[in-house]
Amino acid sequence: MDTISKKLFERACAVLPGGVNSPVRACRSVGCDPLFIARSEGARLWTVDGQELIDYVMSWGPMILGHSNPVVREAAIKAVGNGTSYGAPCPGEVDLAEVICQVMPDVDMVRMVSSGTEATMSAVRLARGYTGRDKIIKFDGGYHGHSDCFLAAAGSGVATLSIPGTPGVPDAFVEQTLIAPYNDLAAVEQVFAANPGQVAALIVEPVAGNIGCVLPGEGYLAGLRKLCTEHGSLLIFDEVITGFRVALGGAQERFGVTPDLTTLGKIIGGGFPVGCYGGKREIMERIAPCGDVYQAGTLSGNPVAMAAGLATVQELMKADYAGLEKRTLAFASELKSILEAKGQDVILNHVASIFTLFFTDRPVNNYADAKTANSGTFAKFYAGMRARGVNLAPSGFECAFTSLVHTDADLDKTLEAARAVEL
Ligand SMILES: Cc1ncc(COP(=O)(O)O)c(C=O)c1O
Repeated sequence: MDTISKKLFERACAVLPGGVNSPVRACRSVGCDPLFIARSEGARLWTVDGQELIDYVMSWGPMILGHSNPVVREAAIKAVGNGTSYGAPCPGEVDLAEVICQVMPDVDMVRMVSSGTEATMSAVRLARGYTGRDKIIKFDGGYHGHSDCFLAAAGSGVATLSIPGTPGVPDAFVEQTLIAPYNDLAAVEQVFAANPGQVAALIVEPVAGNIGCVLPGEGYLAGLRKLCTEHGSLLIFDEVITGFRVALGGAQERFGVTPDLTTLGKIIGGGFPVGCYGGKREIMERIAPCGDVYQAGTLSGNPVAMAAGLATVQELMKADYAGLEKRTLAFASELKSILEAKGQDVILNHVASIFTLFFTDRPVNNYADAKTANSGTFAKFYAGMRARGVNLAPSGFECAFTSLVHTDADLDKTLEAARAVEL
């Protein structure tokens, strides 16, 4: 049947590479065409063809308050009434920066940017400028956006599409990026030992979120902290997913480990394009115009985005994180049982309002483990759920996100859909 989505996709493919503006959205790894969305509210999306979907992508994480949250929407509308971009300081950027510094006590200062990619890219530049060193360590399957230095052994779309590296990135750039497996401290120790005095920073998603959800083992983050301190390298927590998600103060609050620099995105924009990087005053003051490390942005600190971000964060300060975590775990565990009853091996990884069900029998502690999951079974599950009104991320290497507005009825309906899917 020629749906409106299908026709839009055909038009899109003529003018947008792959018909999309971000690769995983094309749904290629699950063998489907993308659905075009007309509207979203609460835990739901409505496609241009009128199909209603219970959403577990939540814009890949930002919409923890649910889509189109009325408080956030009103804040954004009010801000629009005062103009949409000034190219000059505005009160909202100070307000949002103060709140971030308040909930992350080890973040003294932040710089606002417009995406998570910009945040991580700039944090690495700052770390290099501050330490006078060039190399960085990242983890196999770690995804920190699409800037050149991170496109070595990356997760997310790079993993989904099985792209080993990326043409267009000079070898000399990725040569400065050292890779270690996640959750293996001895391997990191070896990388440091092999590159004495050369590592500017180690960047890590404190909960890996782009190979599916993979939790840090006991003492792992503290071990990374110790190694960075010993080697004079900065520890960067990429909290673009985990910030305001695994706790109000992110993974650094939840796991009690203090990074030197933190990158944020997604939730702090309340659905608008925002990122930021922040950390200790002494390091942050190396950024221009205080210092000599240059970084700038036409739309950085945009008043509409700041208003939406601030409203989101203020709402989250009143939120029941513990309750959301409990409901998410109960729901994800039931989903796992349903799939196991169909004869599938399933590993559930969960933290707070994030989870992944891997179709494998091997505990998933790193990218190599995640790759043992059966992508064919996931593709069937994805298509079956979508046909029954449930929107999952179109890749087994991604997280599912719940929100504060997913109701028991939404979760029950999702479980009902899962019971009906044939695998
Ligand atoms: C951990 C992490 N860092 C950075 C990014 C890049 O953020 P953005 O897509 O806003 O550029 C992402 C995106 O998914 C992410 O998950």
